[in-house]
Amino acid sequence: MAVREILKMGDARLLRVAKPVTGFDSDALHLLLTDMLDTMRAANGAGLAAPQIGVDLQLVIFGSNDRNPRYPDRPIVPPTVLINPVITPVGDAEESDWEGCLSVPGLRGMVPRWSQIHYTGFDQYGDTIDRTVEGFHARVVQHECDHLWGKLYPMRVRDFSQFGYVDVLFPGITDTLDD
Ligand code: NI
Repeated sequence: MAVREILKMGDARLLRVAKPVTGFDSDALHLLLTDMLDTMRAANGAGLAAPQIGVDLQLVIFGSNDRNPRYPDRPIVPPTVLINPVITPVGDAEESDWEGCLSVPGLRGMVPRWSQIHYTGFDQYGDTIDRTVEGFHARVVQHECDHLWGKLYPMRVRDFSQFGYVDVLFPGITDTLDD
């Protein structure tokens, strides 16, 4: 168990295209996942991608069984380990919502994402994941997988009048959730 340092925007390691995972159910992979989970929980994150702790692999974690009391209307996303993901939009509808990121602390931006996506990949045991999802779940997957292609959410912001510091945008909120 170890809480790892989360890289911040500006670190070139966040801009790499991550390498596919080639072996499943290994001690090294399980250890890495434990560290990622510890790191995500310690930072109160909604998700974390391996590149955010400097690991150049196509591996993300997201979701929780707990409903966040600060976001009671936010749908529950099942706890997921997603490896070597492929995302395909379903239709061409987009929707915009606020996003934050553990690698971009203190900021929020309005980010357009595909409303509905189909995604596939593998879990840590090499079993296939195949889901069609929409809304917040689709947003989290797109945000996390973007980290695997070297993209941070500010690169997706189109309207920079809706990008700023969370304590200015949302006064009174001191406890925030980041991806
Ligand atoms: Ni992020």
